[in-house]
Amino acid sequence: MNCTRLGLSLLLLTALGCTAEEHGSEGSSHPKREGPGHSHWSYADKAQWKTDFPDCGGQMQSPINIDTNSTMYSRELQAIVLSGSNLDPSKRLGLMNNGHTVVLRLPESLTITDGYPQEYRAMQLHFHWGSPQGPGSEHTVDGHRYDGEIHVVYYNPRYNSIKQAMTQPDGLAVLAAFLQVGPEKNTHYQPLLEQLHEVQETGEETTVAGFNIRGLLPSNLDRYYRYRGSLTTPPCYQTVNWTVFNQTVLLSQEQLSVLETTLQGEDDEVLQNNFRLPQPLHGRGVLASFQAAVSPRRVPLPDSEQLGSSLHTGDVLAILFGILFAVTALAFLIYIYKQRSQSRRPDSHTKPNVIYTAATPEENMG
Ligand SMILES: *[C@@H]1O[C@H](CO)[C@@H](O)[C@H](O)[C@H]1NC(C)=O
Ligand SMILES: [Zn+2]
Repeated sequence: MNCTRLGLSLLLLTALGCTAEEHGSEGSSHPKREGPGHSHWSYADKAQWKTDFPDCGGQMQSPINIDTNSTMYSRELQAIVLSGSNLDPSKRLGLMNNGHTVVLRLPESLTITDGYPQEYRAMQLHFHWGSPQGPGSEHTVDGHRYDGEIHVVYYNPRYNSIKQAMTQPDGLAVLAAFLQVGPEKNTHYQPLLEQLHEVQETGEETTVAGFNIRGLLPSNLDRYYRYRGSLTTPPCYQTVNWTVFNQTVLLSQEQLSVLETTLQGEDDEVLQNNFRLPQPLHGRGVLASFQAAVSPRRVPLPDSEQLGSSLHTGDVLAILFGILFAVTALAFLIYIYKQRSQSRRPDSHTKPNVIYTAATPEENMG
């Protein structure tokens, strides 16, 4: 919350309201450095990731819960535009079970041409899911976990290699969309799901004929959330500029079941619940490319710069106290002034003094 903005006329505000808003604990994390050699990790030992991969204990981790009331609208966030997505069937794409998810390799000719400050080139896409017993998206929205989530991973071509890009602050972009059960079969997902059994075991690979990758994402790419975060798996590099679409992708129950029950993980068990839990924001902001339906709690500002999306209770109280104090002080000053001017007049006995009954500042502050 920006104190100067509100505090201008009422100095008092600053003292009363805004100091309470400072961010609290910046827990100092001192993970043991054991070098990058440890490549074995599992969703069962999520809490231990940071031991072998220090970045996993960082302050800009993903996924997050998106609190829609705290997002900040930004008019800069243009619709995401993809190019080169409609791949010819003659082009074969690698499909692989890496023990943590199924990965579809994408040609670099797939790019994001708008919606980010620069162009990005595709690397791969993969999925996160739950089990027949529960949902498995990584991001959550207002605490709600969706059935699954697709991640399309891109890198910034100004870096020489994908490996190099992964470690740069602006190196990666991920487009994320939620998977949700709907009434119909999603034909765009068929090419992938029909061949999933070919990579049932960890390490298995096959190829898929090119198809329209765009179809795997929601039809509406205008409405999304944007924030700075990380890879959601080790090594958790904090180099991802995230886009999480507001529109979900619908799959039939049967299709979702194929995703949830076909693959095996490294332990030869069915690969399920391959999602990480939401990570603390640590003061990060989440932008939205769209404005939610106007709610009465939203206070529009005169200039284009945005502040938080809504005033908090603490701010409202601070303003009320400030106004109350100002009015009281003013009344007190007028009273003093009248007293003085009356005492200067020699014959003031004809008029009774006007008594202001407003409380003194001292009474209010108690
Ligand atoms: C989409 O935005 C609306 C309006 O803010 C919100 O209620 C809904 O939860 C959002 N859904 C997702 C998946 O982001
Ligand atoms: Zn992912």
